[in-house]
Amino acid sequence: MSFAALRVSLRKAAVPAPSRAARAARFRAPAVRKYSTETPPPPPPPKSSNTTLYAGLGAAALGGVAFWVYTSSSDSAKVAGTAVKSGAQAAKVAANLVPTKEDYIKVYNRVAEIMDEAGDKEYDDGSYGPVLLRLAWHSSGTYDKDTQTGGSNYATMRFAPESQHGANAGLNVARDLMEQLKQEFPWISYGDLWTLGGVAAVQEMGGPKIPWRPGRIDGFAVQATPDGRLPDASQGSDHLRRIFGRMGFNDQEIVALSGGHAVGRCHSTRSGYEGPWTFSPTTITNDFFKLLFDETWVWKKWEGPKQLEDKKTRSLMMLPTDYVLVQDKVFKKFAKAYAQDQDLFFKDFSAAVAKLFELGVPTQQFVTAEPWILPTVDEQKEAKSA
Ligand code: HEM
Repeated sequence: MSFAALRVSLRKAAVPAPSRAARAARFRAPAVRKYSTETPPPPPPPKSSNTTLYAGLGAAALGGVAFWVYTSSSDSAKVAGTAVKSGAQAAKVAANLVPTKEDYIKVYNRVAEIMDEAGDKEYDDGSYGPVLLRLAWHSSGTYDKDTQTGGSNYATMRFAPESQHGANAGLNVARDLMEQLKQEFPWISYGDLWTLGGVAAVQEMGGPKIPWRPGRIDGFAVQATPDGRLPDASQGSDHLRRIFGRMGFNDQEIVALSGGHAVGRCHSTRSGYEGPWTFSPTTITNDFFKLLFDETWVWKKWEGPKQLEDKKTRSLMMLPTDYVLVQDKVFKKFAKAYAQDQDLFFKDFSAAVAKLFELGVPTQQFVTAEPWILPTVDEQKEAKSA
């Protein structure tokens, strides 16, 4: 069967994604409510948020100075000057518009609309959500805690060669979508836009709330990260621990984050791998973990890279790094717990993704001390009609 035919047959076989209303109902489920009440919504930014924002921007300018120190061994004085200037430019933009939480919610809502446009364009499984989540993750997952480089702060994937790194193949789709929004909301930084896109993708695909706050600044090509910082799907547990350990994640967080493969699919034209992980690739569930344990996985016989397929339907896939989660004793313990308890997975996934999206952002840059819990589109509608 050709890939196209496989995709069509899978789409037919796939459990249809629940409607927004159904997803909202999921949010009203006790376990999720438990999580959101455990984390009270943080206060909105102060009315005179200029102060906070300017403090952040001042820090951004300072970040430029720090950056100069970091690279002062090379011919970077000019670049450092530009970085400081950029902080000042950002302050100018901010002088015209001081974005509030409501402004960011407007961006969130546009992301939700754009995600759904995939349906009309017959893109993949009908949502751009998965590829937007992958963009947010790849822009954050370059972080190195030792050198404090990479991460979501500077959105350096805009620049070659980082945009061309093998691991980022296909993310031009997501960057192009986000570029439309950058034109509509020129005041938002790319790092904030991409991570907010990831938050909207998770929440609008029925996943848990991801606490998020703005404050990232746009960087320069010289801050782009070298190739090889993102995980290689053909590797084993040592590799996962080394790559995610470099970002500051432990075993439990590695497993929770891997649950992002509940949604989306591999594309032979991008990574070389092919197929979705679950039967509902536009809805975040713990099915990724359930399937890992419940199905029999066999190596796929094909010309492509080594990947597994489920013996029963041969329509689902697992990467070697996904399968490691049931092979490694410690990973397996967490994977089993997530397979048995979706609420636990949602809670841990939320915490790990929130941490991921803030990697590399100096705390003083954030415009608020407490991250925000942004309402879903359905919740906003319900609040209006109440
Ligand atoms: C554990 C290490 C990881 C490896 C080796 C890995 C590898 C991959 C690969 C090879 C693809 C297919 C890309 C394509 O062909 O389009 C992919 C897609 C994806 N990954 Fe990962 N990934 C990892 C972790 C994560 C994490 C932490 C997240 C998010 C929390 C994530 C979210 C996604 C999503 C949503 C897609 C689907 C994108 C789409 O449908 O276009 N992955 N990943």
